[in-house]
Amino acid sequence: MGTTSELERTAREMLADGRGLLAADESTGTITKRFDAHGIESTEENRRRYRELLFTTGGIEHDLGGIILYDETVRQSTSEGTPMVSLLGQRGIVPGIKVDKGAKDLAGFPGEKVTEGLDGLRERFGEYRELGLRFAKWRTVTDVDDERPTPTGIHVNAHVQARYAALAQEAGLVPIVEPESIMDGDHGIDRSAEVTEAVLQAVFDQLLRQRVALEGVVLKTNMVVSGYAGSDQAGPDEVAERTLQVLHRVVPPAVPGIVFLSGGQDDAQATANLDAIQRAGAQPWIVSFSYARALQGQAMATWGGNEDDVEAAQRVFRHRTRMTGLANRGQWTPEAEQEHTAGV
Ligand code: 13P
Repeated sequence: MGTTSELERTAREMLADGRGLLAADESTGTITKRFDAHGIESTEENRRRYRELLFTTGGIEHDLGGIILYDETVRQSTSEGTPMVSLLGQRGIVPGIKVDKGAKDLAGFPGEKVTEGLDGLRERFGEYRELGLRFAKWRTVTDVDDERPTPTGIHVNAHVQARYAALAQEAGLVPIVEPESIMDGDHGIDRSAEVTEAVLQAVFDQLLRQRVALEGVVLKTNMVVSGYAGSDQAGPDEVAERTLQVLHRVVPPAVPGIVFLSGGQDDAQATANLDAIQRAGAQPWIVSFSYARALQGQAMATWGGNEDDVEAAQRVFRHRTRMTGLANRGQWTPEAEQEHTAGV
């Protein structure tokens, strides 16, 4: 059983010194989709080689305080025989684990999802704790249009987030609570703000009702942006203002940290928007990032499954983590991007 102060220490350690998180926890189905786009065969060995490439990249510990892993990866080792979880620990990077089993159709509510994976979760947490994992992640998914989400869709996902978070804390792992409102639609930024606020409000209501210690939780959320298919796209200053307005309204200051997912933003947007949020000044919580696609996309393309391209891919990955780290400290500039690109 984790105490609240231990959980809070872990949460703050993951995000200390301006560092953020890498989400490398794609399920086999998701990584296969990503590999397919680059013609990489999705074998267990290729997935292991790819994760080893990322985790052994020099210097990433300066910008990454934690990495979220998938179940398959926590049972794998580097080609030299070091378990991946130990490798991260040796590098001062806190290892975590995605524990949800994916978003499934919510019966009776066409177009809405609920995330599954609670059955047996207490026992799985026991094993993950033994394996040395110190935090967890559970993602719920909310699609946005004029009719969705319904109040029930919001409620069931908030409820399941709190069920998961309580079990994680019982096992001594910090729950990352990730209610993602999807930004793929053509909705404007006002609708994005409205839904994000309603979803987060419901999540914190359930966390409190289910006796989750907010001091030992990290929130992972989408930024408030314009739906990607919309004609009018808000720039970084507006994204920062609208995102922080929602977070100030609904996230209690007891929460130690908030991290953003990249959610399909391209690398430039994910970096510029994070930088604008940080330039708005100090907040009641540590604010940081937890990106998958916006950190890995170019590196995976550069690697393409080829042993000869491992070093080039690591340079690209280091560049992206460094740029995101600069943005996370409010110090990113287009000039920095160019200088470092020249050096890649
Ligand atoms: P993206 O940054 O690619 O949105 O992924 C973050 C994540 O962990 C989704 O669960």
